[in-house]
Amino acid sequence: MTHSTVGIIGAGAMGSGIAQVAAQAGWNVVLMDQSNDVLTHSSAALAKVCNRLVEKGRITADESVALQLRIDRTTEIQKLSSCILVIEAIVENVTVKQKVFASLENIVSNACLLATNTSSLSVTGLASSLRHPERFLGLHFFNPAPLMQLVEVVPAMQTDLSHVPRCIEWMSQWGKTPVQAKDTPGFIVNRLARPFYGEALRIVEEELATTLEVDAAMKAIGFRMGPFELMDLIGNDINYAVTVSVFEAFYFDPRYRPSLIQKQHVEAGWLGRKSGRGYYRYDGAPVASSAPNAMNDPEWIQHRIVSMLINEAVDALSMGIATAVDLELAMTRGVNYPKGLLAWANEWGVETVLEHLQSLQERYGEDRYRPAPLLRDMAANNKSFKLEQE
Ligand code: NAI
Repeated sequence: MTHSTVGIIGAGAMGSGIAQVAAQAGWNVVLMDQSNDVLTHSSAALAKVCNRLVEKGRITADESVALQLRIDRTTEIQKLSSCILVIEAIVENVTVKQKVFASLENIVSNACLLATNTSSLSVTGLASSLRHPERFLGLHFFNPAPLMQLVEVVPAMQTDLSHVPRCIEWMSQWGKTPVQAKDTPGFIVNRLARPFYGEALRIVEEELATTLEVDAAMKAIGFRMGPFELMDLIGNDINYAVTVSVFEAFYFDPRYRPSLIQKQHVEAGWLGRKSGRGYYRYDGAPVASSAPNAMNDPEWIQHRIVSMLINEAVDALSMGIATAVDLELAMTRGVNYPKGLLAWANEWGVETVLEHLQSLQERYGEDRYRPAPLLRDMAANNKSFKLEQE
């Protein structure tokens, strides 16, 4: 059987992970980076992963060798000439990315699809600098790519939509769960998940509960990690940067307003696990946190955060960011939510969710808590969300 060849530009955390995924699926990979050191490191890291997979009995020693041989590493972009798909995973910078795509267009055939793994830039904006923007789209993987199932497939405004099913099929072939998202800030996951962090931070900022109480409340309803534990794992600098970028991209909609506490954690260098201290301490010292105004019942924390998450999902649904099915898959597969947010709305009852949001809006008088119009319509008509594939 002849295998297709995918090119990957950038052999950092994401590019190396995506290369492994494609090679494990039997594709030939040309992994390109401007730095030889990065390529050497990427190769050594893959060898380690493969050894572990062999030890665990997931692959045989022969498969491990074959998998590693399927990845060609190079610093020369010309080596990508025979690819049918090239995925870019370099620094998150429009100018640098556009420059790379401009060189790439001179090298690959017209049939080759070009994709970006950007998390925060406009796919449409990146496409605009190409001679053939119709073969360009976003393929947004999650970190670590070999472990996270979700891939958001994001056509730009200029993309020829007939390419989308092919990409979806390729991603499925790679063992991933592809979902299609409109090119809007944060795509699906990084948009829908904002209140998980933002509302948690707001509660702690108001000293209504401690970080520990918020985390415990959310874990009690099935989240694997509480918002503060998760922010510490992601890195408070990274999480803050995503929040700021989504906030700015939505023209400062108060729903996405970043938190001062988070900014100060970044300023203090309390970035989370990687710096030894974030909302928690990772040097063995106890966490000191208090909430003089504490409201001890975890239920109101759960209602507040989950209702805001549901509101975000309903808003995205009404704007056609993705289908209901894909919105649910994105949150359960992309960030391991215990259930889809629309399923959660059905379970609680759309009217109950609306009541939670209205009471928050009444309390604060802020636009941040405005219920999505679709949620109001559904509550008025006593409807629930349809979650099966048509
Ligand atoms: P990274 O910093 O680990 O790797 C980037 C690599 O690109 C480096 O090895 C660098 O040498 C190489 N590079 C930079 N400019 C280049 C050029 N002109 N030509 C060739 N190689 C070049 O970055 P990471 O974290 O892998 O992110 C890459 C992309 O993926 C970014 O767009 C990021 O926003 C996106 N992304 C990152 C996620 C994450 O959690 N790290 C998750 C999803 C997307």
